[in-house]
Amino acid sequence: MYDFKPAAPLDTEALYRELLAAAEALTADEPDGVANMANVAALLWEFLPDLNWAGFYRVAPAKGGGADELVLGPFVGRPACIRIPFGRGVCGAAAQQGATQLVTDVHAFPGHIACDAASASELVVPVLRDGAVVAVIDLDSPSPARFTAEDAAGIEALAALLAERV
Ligand code: SME
Repeated sequence: MYDFKPAAPLDTEALYRELLAAAEALTADEPDGVANMANVAALLWEFLPDLNWAGFYRVAPAKGGGADELVLGPFVGRPACIRIPFGRGVCGAAAQQGATQLVTDVHAFPGHIACDAASASELVVPVLRDGAVVAVIDLDSPSPARFTAEDAAGIEALAALLAERV
């Protein structure tokens, strides 16, 4: 059975291979998106070193039924901003552009939203379904330049796996 933890030490490629296999095993037979996001947030936390926040924002209507925005989903870490308009901060940029945001220094990112003062770098990857953004995966680290192109590729593969499962 899966231990749902990496058999340390693993190089980055092997780490993402195991993370994806665990995510596949945990979500394949479960149609509930909240359950799947909760388990994947826990997996990200277990597998990836040097994080202070790992989780999801979902695309949902604004309060009162306004335009869509990002709404906090399952995560591991400190309590975070609940609603983020498209185009605001790193998550809002990923949602608006439908594109990965790899930020080596969050303090240099215009409009960065500081939910946790400890965050120094950030990786946000959109989850696309039929070409539309339905959620974003957000990873924060207390270390500057924590995330690489290899991390971006690994999380993009995870987002593709989750397209119909969140
Ligand atoms: N820093 C993010 C906000 C979300 S928290 O990091 C959990 C941003 O600028 O979008």
